[in-house]
Amino acid sequence: MEEDITPAEMEDPEMDIMDVYQILDRPGVQLWTHTFATSPIPLTIINNSLQILWGNDRFREIFAESENYEGLTLMEFFPRSFKREWILKMAQDIRTYKCGYSWNGRIEHKRKNQITLVSNLLILPIFRSPLEIKLPSAYACIFDNITEEYRQMLKITFASLLEASLLKDKDTGRHIQRVNLYSKALAETLQGIPSYNEVDIEFIENVGFLAAMHDVGKIGIPDDILNKQDKLNKWEMEVMKEHTINGAFILNTYPNIMAKEIALYHHERWDGNGYPYGLRENMIPLSARIVAIADVYDALRMKRSYKEPFPHETAKNILIDYRESYFEPFLIDRFLDLESQFIKIFDNLGD
Ligand SMILES: [Fe+2]
Ligand SMILES: [Fe+2]
Repeated sequence: MEEDITPAEMEDPEMDIMDVYQILDRPGVQLWTHTFATSPIPLTIINNSLQILWGNDRFREIFAESENYEGLTLMEFFPRSFKREWILKMAQDIRTYKCGYSWNGRIEHKRKNQITLVSNLLILPIFRSPLEIKLPSAYACIFDNITEEYRQMLKITFASLLEASLLKDKDTGRHIQRVNLYSKALAETLQGIPSYNEVDIEFIENVGFLAAMHDVGKIGIPDDILNKQDKLNKWEMEVMKEHTINGAFILNTYPNIMAKEIALYHHERWDGNGYPYGLRENMIPLSARIVAIADVYDALRMKRSYKEPFPHETAKNILIDYRESYFEPFLIDRFLDLESQFIKIFDNLGD
């Protein structure tokens, strides 16, 4: 049986980017490049230094912003997509008989202003000839785009969690759906503003889904406090405040940090007098600053166990009153621009 490749053998003197054409001319490699040139599955050929030698049409269409990918390693081409511990393992596995000279893993890759793509990446060896099974010098990388399936799976998982938390909170009604819509509308107004350059299509879509998670931590609050008709006393208020930290715990496993940020920071105030940490201004993540406005506006408009609903004008004036204390002033101005949209959302999705 073939021994695993030792570090000394891993040094292949032939492997130089100058050898690209030599590698691509090999019959074994040509079989792949011809067969997959126009395939709907993105595919690249790499050498054993993980340098990309060739990419098919689909790879270029999906991943390559410029034509300059040839000669870059997978890690250079997909920065931040490979966990550090993977890189060594990958380099080792593709040179190891026991691992079938192959590797697979899931990578996430974000192109500027685009939705993050999630792919299962499979690296397979291409031997020089059926007799050469020692150290492959070329590999095929097949990218199976699972972005949609992955996003759907996450959404379903976290939507169930949300359902569970809503069973406890009798006050919510369609509050969370409306908070999603207001938050998305507010985020849209920030796109293209240089000081809000984190706002892109993906940010907008995420805040429009994750805003609903802001109170998911209430699942851990005792029912008698959560549904108390009267004002909460000081101690009960302290327990209630814990829903922010509980929410962060629950959402810790969600791959997008925005979920945790919204749960943890949606009660922080612009002037630093909020909770749980008393963060101020830009220290509070933008997603949470947006959701704070959406949440309070809707809470004011709703009938709750302890209050009657306010008309839009009253809710608006309260937000204006708190323009610099609770809320980010610039976002309150955007809210005022969007006033009619907020009214429409509330009226269309009433409880
Ligand atoms: Fe909350
Ligand atoms: Fe809320």
